[in-house]
Amino acid sequence: MFNPEELKQDFPILSRQINGQSLVYLDNAATSQKPQVVIDAISHYYQTSNANVHRGVHALSDESTKLWETSRATIATFFGANPGELILTRNTTEAINGVAYGWADHHLSASDVILTTPMEHHSDLVVWQQVCQRTGAELRFLEVDETGRLKIEQLEEIFAHSDIKLISLGLVSNTLGTRNPVEKIVKIARKLRPEVKILLDGAQAAPHLPLDFHELDCDFFAFSGHKMLGPMGIGGLLVKQDLLESKAFQPWLFGGGMIATVEREKTEFAEDLADRFTAGTPDVASTVGLAAACRYLQQLGMKEVAQHDQELVQYALEKLTQISEVTLIGPVYALPAQPLDRVGSVAFIYQGVHAHDVAQILDSQGVAVRSGHHCTMPLHTQFNWQATVRASFQVYNSQADIDKLVAALAKVKAVFGI
Ligand code: ALA
Repeated sequence: MFNPEELKQDFPILSRQINGQSLVYLDNAATSQKPQVVIDAISHYYQTSNANVHRGVHALSDESTKLWETSRATIATFFGANPGELILTRNTTEAINGVAYGWADHHLSASDVILTTPMEHHSDLVVWQQVCQRTGAELRFLEVDETGRLKIEQLEEIFAHSDIKLISLGLVSNTLGTRNPVEKIVKIARKLRPEVKILLDGAQAAPHLPLDFHELDCDFFAFSGHKMLGPMGIGGLLVKQDLLESKAFQPWLFGGGMIATVEREKTEFAEDLADRFTAGTPDVASTVGLAAACRYLQQLGMKEVAQHDQELVQYALEKLTQISEVTLIGPVYALPAQPLDRVGSVAFIYQGVHAHDVAQILDSQGVAVRSGHHCTMPLHTQFNWQATVRASFQVYNSQADIDKLVAALAKVKAVFGI
């Protein structure tokens, strides 16, 4: 098992002082910090191999193309997918938009239903609202209970009364931390309607859990590189090979690089799946950087990464429960005979003090957390939360960081006299 305090040495930014204090970075669900190996991989690419891919016969272009292809393969393999199943995007949001334009717009019409949940990040909600406006399809919700868990018992009933064509939900909620029972949802959905398409938003799961795209048995899986120690501006959409080959899923960006032949009036798209979905010059440096992040995580071992996360989540819940002004949101206790279904973060309300004020007082002591609605406004509205404070973790966070968060929260009481 790795030692998070030792890992801190790999992340140059973590040695910074913020407001005269050593930085305690607990805003990893927004974006993670980058290890030196990722920074070096990007810098080395520009220093030694920069050239456009697939467009030149010269040595550098060849080298850059090989690096891009091997990096793509590393990223796909990290998720248990075939390289041909990976479409690189800028982030999860772009990946979900890709499913909207590349699949939903071609296959949905009035009376079709898209099923999602009220705990989705806006990226996995606003996109579907727009699809419904364009196609006439309807958006329905699998509701969430007071403990922050999905009311999965309602799923069969919803299927019985709706022509569900697409299910889209997060594997892990960015606000509640809930690890949704997607395996059960996929199984029920496949049994009741084999042709239904399933998209998993993996943005908050990919940094913490060992994942296998084929075992998850979803059709689409979206993720962001920057939350899993990689650079900003690179992420991906995994699409099942047969769906790609059937051409039921189509390119949604058009231009150079994704073509086989172009005539004045029409174009044949590239047969190679990676090419067909790569319009324009790809971000090779970020792809190389993300591959370096995948290797870094693989070296730690994703099982160990997940175990470390669980220990931190449990510890944070225990410590925060002891502060009487703090109300935790999301799953706090495990269900009978199950591990706690919470991953990556702990969010809470400090009674009587606005979340932004809490975050500011924490920041004055070097502790970085996120405050606000975390791009989940409908969830906050449903439970009448004005705003919440969220501490979110990565491999370099330790129990000592959580102790510092708890110590820093004492100042909220001192300042507000609550
Ligand atoms: N989706 C990111 C978050 O939850 C930005 O903070």
